[in-house]
Order: sequence, then structure tokens, then C-alpha cells
Amino acid sequence: MSKEKFKEYYQDDNVTGTYDAQRLGTEYRKQKRQEELKIFLDLLNKKDNEKVLELGASSGFLTEHLGVVTAVDTSKEMLKITKRRNPSATVLEADMFKLPFSDNSFDKIITMRVWTHLNEDDLRLALKESKRVLKSGGILVFDTEEKNLLRRFIHFFYKRIFKITGYKIYPYSIKGIKKILSEEGFGWKICKFLNHRIGRQIILRVTNI
Ligand SMILES: C[S@@+](CC[C@H](N)C(=O)[O-])C[C@H]1O[C@@H](n2cnc3c(N)ncnc32)[C@H](O)[C@@H]1O
Repeated sequence: MSKEKFKEYYQDDNVTGTYDAQRLGTEYRKQKRQEELKIFLDLLNKKDNEKVLELGASSGFLTEHLGVVTAVDTSKEMLKITKRRNPSATVLEADMFKLPFSDNSFDKIITMRVWTHLNEDDLRLALKESKRVLKSGGILVFDTEEKNLLRRFIHFFYKRIFKITGYKIYPYSIKGIKKILSEEGFGWKICKFLNHRIGRQIILRVTNI
């Protein structure tokens, strides 16, 4: 799936209207979302004077906890929900591959469950653009899904049975993601894991070097 298709999928009203219900639809999902939130916030460790950018804020699940922050997404409708959830956020309809900010603008960038949808070429583009707007020594927090054969197999049938065609997840190995990060000029700092029923999510804090 291309980055254009990914963007279009989330601009669909049906997706905007059902996103939160789907993400928080069961007790298990709610609990996982809380665990995930805690890891992201711990890794970000936002200080009051820091300029923080969130990419793919969507309906503001994370934004709500970020205080003063700049939050971007390509879905105008999602951003309306974000602004209601966090009135102190500056929300902007913008593309994470072509950000409307000058070089070295932010101390930290965070993005949750967004880059999991990017193939390697697009992930590298997103890293380059984030590096550009991050200050030197700045922090990037993002997640990806670890390669897991069983999960891949289940995903494949789940999507066929429920006829889900709009989005795709691209898993990476730890070795693979380390290589990409080092080639794109990021230093490996901390890596946490969130176990799911099958497979695990890798959540990373890396530095712009
Ligand atoms: C899976 S959702 C994000 C989830 C959200 N961060 C959360 O954890 O609930 C992916 C989001 O990325 C946004 N998106 C897709 N392509 C984008 C792009 N090129 N630039 C910025 N946001 C984009 C979509 O509109 C969607 O809101």
C-alpha cells in the first residue's frame, strides 16, 4: 500500500466515525491502549519548555495527554476531534512527508501507530522529513510491529474474511529497523516491547545525530 492510499483510507468518513470505537472496542483493547499510552509518554518525557510535534494525531488519543503540542494529520475531520480533546494543541492539516516547518524546529517528535503502515521506502522518507525538522540531538518516539509469521498469517485471513482492503501493516525485525535508523542518521536509545495476543509492538526512542 502506498503512502497515498494510507492517507486516503483515513480521510474516509466511515473510518473517522468508527476509529475510536474500533480501537477501544473491547476491554482487552482498552487495556492495551492504556499500556501503550504509558510507554509512549514515558519515552517522550516531555518537559514544559520543549517544542513537541505529533505526527498522525488522528482523533487525539495521545494528543489529549501532551499538553501544549503541535499535532498534524491529513484528515481534517480527525483533527476536529483532536482539538476538542486537547484545546491547547495547535492542530494542523499537514503531510508528514512534507511538513510546513523550517529545519531544526522541534525538540521532540512523537508518532503512535502511524509508521507501522509504511513500507521501507516510505518509512525512510518519513524519517528524513522528521530529521529535517528535529533539532540536532532531538528525540523521536515511534513504534513498529515486530515481524512474526503467525501474526502475518492471521492478518492475511482476517483481512480476507472481513474484506478489509484499506490499510496494511508492515512489520520489521529489530535488526532491520536498527539498520534503517542508523542509515537515516538516528542513534538507537531505548526500545520497549508491548506484547499483544500474538506478536509484539516495538516502541522506540531514538536521537537525531
Ligand atoms: C492509525 S491512525 C493513527 C493513530 C493515532 N496516532 C492513534 O494512536 O490513535 C493513522 C493516522 O495517520 C494519518 N495519516 C496518514 N497519512 C498521513 C500523512 N501523510 N501525514 C500525516 N498524517 C497521515 C491518518 O489520517 C490517521 O489519522
